[in-house]
Amino acid sequence: MIPIKTCHDIDKMRKGGRVLAKIMAELSGMVSPGLTTAELDCKTEGLIRSFGVRSAFQGYRGYPAHICVSVNEEVVHGIPGPRRLREGDIVSIDIGIENSGYFLDMAETFPVGRIDTKRRKLIETAKAALEEAIKVFRVGNRLLDISRSVQAYVEARGFSVVRDFVGHGIGRELHEEPQIPNYVTKEDSPVLQAGMVFAIEPMINAGTWEVKVLQDGWTAVTKDKEPSAHFEHTVALTKEGPVVLTREE
Ligand code: MF3
Ligand code: CO
Repeated sequence: MIPIKTCHDIDKMRKGGRVLAKIMAELSGMVSPGLTTAELDCKTEGLIRSFGVRSAFQGYRGYPAHICVSVNEEVVHGIPGPRRLREGDIVSIDIGIENSGYFLDMAETFPVGRIDTKRRKLIETAKAALEEAIKVFRVGNRLLDISRSVQAYVEARGFSVVRDFVGHGIGRELHEEPQIPNYVTKEDSPVLQAGMVFAIEPMINAGTWEVKVLQDGWTAVTKDKEPSAHFEHTVALTKEGPVVLTREE
């Protein structure tokens, strides 16, 4: 069963989403050569506290930090640490919070200083693939339409879509039904209804879609070491259409 939220639920989630977008904007301003990923985590901890919300990631299945920071060939779930960002890197920051019993989830990929054309196009494609997917999150469409939209957009630009990680429903839990693949599967697909809230999150690679998880048990990297980008928004479906909750305005 896919949980259906009331407008009261969605209103509460909108407030948490605004906070999360503000936190992301603060972090994005810090991204520069020489910064360690642990410093980003530390800053996040302070912001989370100052906004009076809670980290959804810390302690989740034993996850040790407030954000996932994935650099270059790291796809998702990079653990913050002593690694320093360098000019030319791309870095994705993924944050989840809980606010008054509701979860919000968001990710963005940023350039560190000047980056090469391949990385720039990868970031642009991942961001636009998310925007296109949000447009087909409409009452009467099927879940599969979201998956198809991402896959078609990304593959038409010569990039690949990660299979091993997917988007998800979100609300009273960080991960709710349904799973939202960024590629077309053969399973039959539910019709989208008002009150569904989804974390839509394309993860796309410059080379192969294949990934592996490192010895730390978390960090997923591309098998061919080519770079990867990730964007995520928490989006509510209303009768009027999709509403992106993880936005400042
Ligand atoms: N944003 C990711 C997701 O939606 C990260 C969760 S894993 C965690 O699944 F352990 F870092 F929390
Ligand atoms: Co997510």
